[in-house]
Formats: sequence, structure tokens, C-alpha cells
Amino acid sequence: MPVASANPLRSGSDAMSIIKLTNLEKSYGALKVLRGIDAEIGEGETFAIIGPNGAGKTTLFKVMTGEVPSNGGRVEFDGKDVTHDPAYRRARAGMGRTFQVARVFLELTVIENVIIAIEARRKNTGDSDDAWYAVVSSRSVVDEARQLLANLDLELKRNTEASILSHGDKKRLELAITLAGRPRILMLDEPTAGMSPSDRIGVVDLIRRLRDESRLTIVMTEHDMSVIFGLADRIMVMNQGARLAIGSIDEIRSSQVVRDVYLGKESQHD
Ligand SMILES: Nc1ncnc2c1ncn2[C@@H]1O[C@H](COP(=O)(O)OP(=O)(O)OP(=O)(O)O)[C@@H](O)[C@H]1O
Ligand SMILES: [Mg+2]
Repeated sequence: MPVASANPLRSGSDAMSIIKLTNLEKSYGALKVLRGIDAEIGEGETFAIIGPNGAGKTTLFKVMTGEVPSNGGRVEFDGKDVTHDPAYRRARAGMGRTFQVARVFLELTVIENVIIAIEARRKNTGDSDDAWYAVVSSRSVVDEARQLLANLDLELKRNTEASILSHGDKKRLELAITLAGRPRILMLDEPTAGMSPSDRIGVVDLIRRLRDESRLTIVMTEHDMSVIFGLADRIMVMNQGARLAIGSIDEIRSSQVVRDVYLGKESQHD
């Protein structure tokens, strides 16, 4: 059953849903990691997935993006069944994700990392194999990269080698790389993990800005409840591979079963 969103423009209703998960199952050998997950995510919604370590959050991300196959159930993206599509095809269709541990080319500079991502997108959308066009477009690729970096407060560090960036800047660069692919849905796996409190506030502001300035749908996992409560329209709580609850912040906060299994333990978690 769809649950009302905190923001009336964002909802998990059928008509506007961009992601639909039906009875998703995943096992690693004898270990059942996802147990019949059902969820719908509305276009433009910020949807958070929470749960204790090992609950299956990252695995759910992987099954949604096609990095690992599911053992049952269905993933629909934008009304199409993508359950058996490989990851690259889902990425081209508009699923962009970041990782719990940032993935960037460490030996390249900040702007080189973003340029590669923009060029990959342009190539995939069939923009530019003509040599003349490639020369002309290089200027616009650089312009686009600088604009993206400016939006993410990384422009001043554009010529810094990625290997010497702070943890927070690395995560921001990974976000820039992901956004360079112009995704329709942005999947963030623990975007503030391991960050200082000030970096954390910066990332939350950034995610809020992305959400408010575009129609980007955001799906995120996160252990920091203040981050979740400050951003999410709806929350799904997972425990041992199963969906424990789904609903608005208020519904999740007041749910006794969630308190018993998860929120009560959160103070011990971080
Ligand atoms: N490739 C794998 N092979 C075997 N078991 C795995 C594999 N990946 C994950 N698991 C197991 O699946 C379960 C869910 O892991 P997952 O990483 O999805 O949890 P999570 O909710 O993201 O946890 P965390 O909050 O620590 O990031 C865990 O028990 C984990 O050990
Ligand atoms: Mg995880």
C-alpha cells in the first residue's frame, strides 16, 4: 500500500513510481540476504533504507542496479522490467549509484575524473565519434565538468590529484562522477559514512540542494538518523533481509516494532 509522502509532490503512488520492487529475493549460498522485498519509489522522492549492519541494504542496492543477480522477484524501472538487464544497461537508462567506499581514479585529478565520466556518457548517448566534433566538444566537456565541480564546491580543487583529497572531498568527487552520467535516480550508499560532523552537514546540504533543484529521485542508505530525518520523504526499515516497516518519518519514529528492533539500538551503533 502506498504511504503518503512528507512532501505532497513526492509520493510512492502507482502513477508516479519510478522504481517498483516485487518480492525480491537474494541468497549467497545458504544465507538468505533479501527476503521478499516489496517497495515502490515515487519519481522525485527521497527514499531512505535503514537497518542494522548486515540487514541487506547494500545487497538491495546491488540487486536494483544489476551488480548481482536476484534469486527471485522483479525490479521495474520507469515502468519497464529490468530484472534481467545487465548493470551497464540500467546505468544508461538512468540509474546512478555511489558506493559505501568511494570509487574514483586516485591517480587522476579531480577534473580528469569528471571529464572521463562526461565523455563516457556522451559516447553512450552516441554524441561524438566524428573527429572534428570531438575537438569542438572538448571545450564543452571541460565547461560542463567545471560547472559540476562548482555545484559540488570542488572547483578550487579541480587540479588536485584524487589520492590526496580528504575523505569528504573524495565522496563529493564520487558524487560529481555519478551526476556526470545525468542519472534519473541517484542511489547513495551511506553518503556520510566516516565523515567529520562538518563534512556531514555539507553533504546533507548538497543532497538537499540536488533534490530541490532537480527532479532527481534519491534512494539512500545511511546509519546517521539525523541525516535520514533531515532528508527523507519516506523510510524503509530492513532487518535480516526482510522489510520491517515502510512509511513517513513520523510513522517510522512511532512504530513500536522499529523501536524494538532498530532505533533503540542506534545509540550503541555509531
Ligand atoms: N558477496 C557476498 N557473499 C556472501 N555473503 C555476503 C556477500 N555480500 C554480503 N553478504 C552478506 O549479506 C548480508 C547483508 O550484507 P549487506 O552488505 O547487504 O548489509 P548492509 O545492510 O549493507 O550492512 P552495513 O550496514 O554494514 O553496510 C551480510 O550478512 C553479509 O555478510
Ligand atoms: Mg552496506
